[in-house]
Amino acid sequence: MLLPLAILALSVRLAAAATAMQPRETCLQQCGDVQIPYPFGIGSGCHLETGDWTFVLSCNRSEDDGRLRVYNYQIEVADISVPLGQLRIYSAINAWCYNGSTGAMDDQNNWWYNMSITNFRINDTLNRFTVVGCNSLAYILSPDGTLGADQYMTGCMATCPGVDRLKNGSCAGVGCCQTAIPGGLNGYQVSFEEKFNTSGTANFSRCSYAVLAEAKAFDFRTTYVTTDEFMAANAGQLPLVLDFAIGHKTCEEAKRNVSAYACVSGNSECVDSKYGPRHGYLCNCSSGYEGNPYLHDGCHDINECEGKQYPCSVPGTCVNTPGGFTCTCPDKTTGNAYNGTCEDNKSQLGWKIAIGISSGVVILIITASCAYMIHQKRRLAKIKREHFRQHGGLLLFEEMKSRQGLAFTLFTQEELEDATNRFDERNVIGKGGNGTVYKGTIARHNGAVVAIKRCRLATERQAKEFGKEMLILSQINHRNIVKLYGCCLEVEVPMLVYKYIPNGTLYMLIHDGRARMRIPFAMRMRIAHQTAEALAYLHSWASPPIIHGDVKTSNILLDEDYTAKVSDFGASALAPADAAQFVTFVQGTCGYLDPEYMRTCRLTDKSDVYSFGVVLLELLTCRKALSLEELEEEKYLSSKFLLAVAENRLEEILDAQIKNEQSIEVLEQVAELAKQCLEMSGEKRPSMRKVAEELDRLMKLSLHPWGQQNSEELLALLGGSPSAVDSDQIELSTSTRNISFSDTAYIGIRSPR
Ligand SMILES: *[C@@H]1O[C@H](CO)[C@@H](O)[C@H](O)[C@H]1NC(C)=O
Ligand SMILES: *[C@@H]1O[C@H](CO)[C@@H](O)[C@H](O)[C@H]1NC(C)=O
Ligand SMILES: *[C@@H]1O[C@H](CO)[C@@H](O)[C@H](O)[C@H]1NC(C)=O
Ligand SMILES: *[C@@H]1O[C@H](CO)[C@@H](O)[C@H](O)[C@H]1NC(C)=O
Ligand SMILES: *[C@@H]1O[C@H](CO)[C@@H](O)[C@H](O)[C@H]1NC(C)=O
Ligand SMILES: *[C@@H]1O[C@H](CO)[C@@H](O)[C@H](O)[C@H]1NC(C)=O
Ligand SMILES: *[C@@H]1O[C@H](CO)[C@@H](O)[C@H](O)[C@H]1NC(C)=O
Ligand SMILES: *[C@@H]1O[C@H](CO)[C@@H](O)[C@H](O)[C@H]1NC(C)=O
Ligand SMILES: *[C@@H]1O[C@H](CO)[C@@H](O)[C@H](O)[C@H]1NC(C)=O
Ligand SMILES: *[C@@H]1O[C@H](CO)[C@@H](O)[C@H](O)[C@H]1NC(C)=O
Repeated sequence: MLLPLAILALSVRLAAAATAMQPRETCLQQCGDVQIPYPFGIGSGCHLETGDWTFVLSCNRSEDDGRLRVYNYQIEVADISVPLGQLRIYSAINAWCYNGSTGAMDDQNNWWYNMSITNFRINDTLNRFTVVGCNSLAYILSPDGTLGADQYMTGCMATCPGVDRLKNGSCAGVGCCQTAIPGGLNGYQVSFEEKFNTSGTANFSRCSYAVLAEAKAFDFRTTYVTTDEFMAANAGQLPLVLDFAIGHKTCEEAKRNVSAYACVSGNSECVDSKYGPRHGYLCNCSSGYEGNPYLHDGCHDINECEGKQYPCSVPGTCVNTPGGFTCTCPDKTTGNAYNGTCEDNKSQLGWKIAIGISSGVVILIITASCAYMIHQKRRLAKIKREHFRQHGGLLLFEEMKSRQGLAFTLFTQEELEDATNRFDERNVIGKGGNGTVYKGTIARHNGAVVAIKRCRLATERQAKEFGKEMLILSQINHRNIVKLYGCCLEVEVPMLVYKYIPNGTLYMLIHDGRARMRIPFAMRMRIAHQTAEALAYLHSWASPPIIHGDVKTSNILLDEDYTAKVSDFGASALAPADAAQFVTFVQGTCGYLDPEYMRTCRLTDKSDVYSFGVVLLELLTCRKALSLEELEEEKYLSSKFLLAVAENRLEEILDAQIKNEQSIEVLEQVAELAKQCLEMSGEKRPSMRKVAEELDRLMKLSLHPWGQQNSEELLALLGGSPSAVDSDQIELSTSTRNISFSDTAYIGIRSPR
């Protein structure tokens, strides 16, 4: 069972890597006399796909014997160097000339380059902006010509104090000037300053020239000023060096996606772009190797012994090794063949034996400890695979493969350990009946803040179907349900990764003394309505329906603007389609439990309706679902409420604040709805959809001008110190009495299998 899984995973990886990353054999290797090394290429399947146009080239074979161009641009490529991560393009020489026949300067017709859809940067150490002329001031500036925050502009001026002072090879202001450019450019344009023109010097220097080019490729000649030789000798262009890089991730980030990671050759390494963390990475063969790191087996060993310079000081002692070489003195001699000499030395035989024996022992120890470490590592990996399989990971994995674009992630154990600082106690934000919740940040989701829940599994059946349930829950997308990002199955108890919701639970909102009495009725109704919508959605979304199974105020989270988010499907079960599989254990929280469910052990969508009725009561009365201080029949809020209604004492148990705020007619109707939800027989209870609709209606009714109070008031009030609410998210850790009771109840009620 295990072996096929491992092989499957491996072959999927290899296949993905092999197809996604390698050029086809029929790809054009050369255009004109320019070599085209991968990752560059012409046509689909020939270049590395990075989501931008960086490696996409085109070749026009009808021009001369072929011209290689950067795709989409009129930019011609001169050569490409994979080891340096650079390419040279041709940069046009801009000329601005005096026109003898019109007696004026021609129009400026300057080049501009905009390479922002590629990952090219103009190398600022190798290139210079150069101006040639006799009364010429030229600028290089951002391609859109404005001077904003991330824009730039620089330039220089060339003058001719006397024609005789021009000097070959000297570009220092006389007839020629040069200036450095800012780093990191990926586009520019050139402009001549109109105030300085060559109309006055036209009879010996008719034109001004400006070009951004490789400094090495430019050598000033006096004739550049006095004739049109500058243009003619260079065919109107000079090379410009660009740095390229792959994508916009750092090496560390890129390595996480094996199918997109470009450094596929063995003996290759990844180098972060020098332009900074968002500018991608390059691949390079490791030291001692050369070739193309972007191709499988592209990096091959350098034979140093046959290099231009013999690396050892003693001839005939060089031995090539993978990634290096050794210089070994011949038999019966000792010495230093690298940079010294080798000498005969028979008397050192004893030493040799000693060294031989001790190195043998050392090797033995190293081998043994290596073997032990490998064994340990394999054992760990096996345990992980076993957990993964047990939790239905195989099924989930298969499903995820067949449904592309599923926003669900299988996290590794390491990732979650990193996220929570090895499950540091300080990151615990909640503890409860069925798990512990940690707060953490996930690097893979751009540092998103998440709540990580370590579940407590109830039964073997649940364990087996865990993966399947995850798959279904991951597709639930409702604004009032906490988003599930993914899970981790390779650990003993599966872990769930949710979006982090900052504002605590509804339980805390109602029962935390600070906010009590001040929650406006409209806000209570809104939260109740949103919760009802979420549950109705769960019940109708899938067939069989998804049942929450543990609806209570501490499972309703509140986000920044106090929107309700239903959380914790720890107890949820997909209602089995076939009757034989009915869930046979009872779980949930005391005070909220559907009495019918306790009797029949059948969890239905109406069980959620019952629990929701209790939540509604809590909102109406600001009392806890279960309070142990009360007399026997009054312990449970539900029975206390039903008793009060029966004895016509409803007003007595309603929260004083909403009595002031809202007409009794509306409150009675809400209470009536709660009463219907609490019907003993599930059949008589309304469906969650009906409840949501009724709440919607009542909400509109209550928005009568005299009944309404501004809920913004409360938001402002609570906003004052949110940190107090932050610390406890999903389960309660404060009210220990309540929790311990619900825990015992949980264990006690569970029926034997
Ligand atoms: C190739 O070059 C020829 C000659 O300059 C030109 O007519 C043709 O339009 C070019 N083709 C492409 C695809 O650029
Ligand atoms: C001078 O300008 C005229 C009219 O604009 C144009 O036809 C001619 O080609 C120009 N001469 C040169 C040398 O550029
Ligand atoms: C050249 O610049 C001078 C000012 O330096 C200006 O007076 C003259 O009109 C300009 N000539 C042309 C042809 O633009
Ligand atoms: C510019 O090119 C030089 C020489 O190849 C190289 O050392 C340098 O790292 C490059 N600059 C950047 C920012 O990549
Ligand atoms: C450069 O090209 C990008 C992408 O085509 C475009 O969004 C941007 O506006 C261009 N910038 C200028 C200055 O033309
Ligand atoms: C500079 O070199 C050119 C040839 O490139 C030559 O014609 C010219 O006379 C030289 N000028 C000086 C001042 O040496
Ligand atoms: C250029 O023309 C001016 C008159 O416009 C003249 O004085 C000068 O000698 C000429 N220079 C050369 C090098 O022909
Ligand atoms: C990994 O790379 C592949 C190929 O580029 C891409 O389709 C996929 O979305 C990437 N996966 C992640 C998690 O970024
Ligand atoms: C690639 O590695 C070689 C030596 O192994 C080194 O000289 C070169 O600078 C590296 N290139 C990059 C882009 O880091
Ligand atoms: C010779 O090489 C050894 C290491 O191989 C080194 O420690 C020593 O300094 C070198 N001597 C010289 C003269 O380069």
